[in-house]
Amino acid sequence: MKPRPQKPNLTLQPTTLWDYPSQHYGKEQQGDQNYKGATPSYIIWNLLQRYTTKKDLIIDPMAGSGTTLDVARDLGRKVLGYDLGPTRKDIFRADARKLPLEDSKAGFVFIDPPYSTHIEYTDDPRCIGKLSAAGDEYYQAMDQVIGEIHRILKPGKHMGLYVSDSYVKGKGFYPLGFELFALMRKRFTPIDIVAVTRHNKTLDMGNYRSAAEDGNFFLRGFNYLFIMQKPDTAPPKRQRNNPSKRPDRRKPKHKPQSGQRR
Ligand SMILES: C[S@@+](CC[C@H](N)C(=O)[O-])C[C@H]1O[C@@H](n2cnc3c(N)ncnc32)[C@H](O)[C@@H]1O
Repeated sequence: MKPRPQKPNLTLQPTTLWDYPSQHYGKEQQGDQNYKGATPSYIIWNLLQRYTTKKDLIIDPMAGSGTTLDVARDLGRKVLGYDLGPTRKDIFRADARKLPLEDSKAGFVFIDPPYSTHIEYTDDPRCIGKLSAAGDEYYQAMDQVIGEIHRILKPGKHMGLYVSDSYVKGKGFYPLGFELFALMRKRFTPIDIVAVTRHNKTLDMGNYRSAAEDGNFFLRGFNYLFIMQKPDTAPPKRQRNNPSKRPDRRKPKHKPQSGQRR
């Protein structure tokens, strides 16, 4: 077994390539390291440091083992977590497509959804982890989740979505990252796209490695982290077809100064 590198201090990630050698920061655990599919906690820590204050209510619509809840509380933020299969008492059972929350309540939303069918989470038939990305059903469900995030988020506030593409042996490659980004762009403004290094055990497993070499496919080396913002204002209403209300385009209101760019 490789010796574990020492945990460095937790600092803000300066570039769009994020890396940290541990699932958890500090001496405690955030979330549960035995939960399959748990989010590395430094990712949520970085997002909350950059995009929230103590006044913001943080929401995780697919809270899993509760990593977002633990990080938010570490940083003195109020937080609510939902999941179809709650793993602890402070996570409420709810479908991420229909959250029991009023409009424009959240100051930040973090979500790490199922990457199509790569992990079996619960027996609940509404679990999005049961939907294949080969057709439309996974994307239609995620479009509803993204719509719900837009509804609960305050205008001007941010969300982070953490996801990996998917390769299913014998079936093919599914570019979940680009597809979900396109769905988010319908409602949100992109702020940045981060590549997060995966420290996945499967990368070290000999059988995965040889299967990838023999089958000429790649193991996933990074996740996307999409940072999006809900626009602050409603888009301008269309001008009515009323000539008296149309702006007069003939005379410019201000003459451009010499040398001023138009
Ligand atoms: C990748 S895990 C989240 C991991 C979590 N961030 C953590 O650190 O433990 C995805 C979660 O989505 C949940 N889920 C799947 N479909 C859902 C739905 N329709 N509504 C709410 N949660 C759902 C699963 O039960 C699972 O816990």
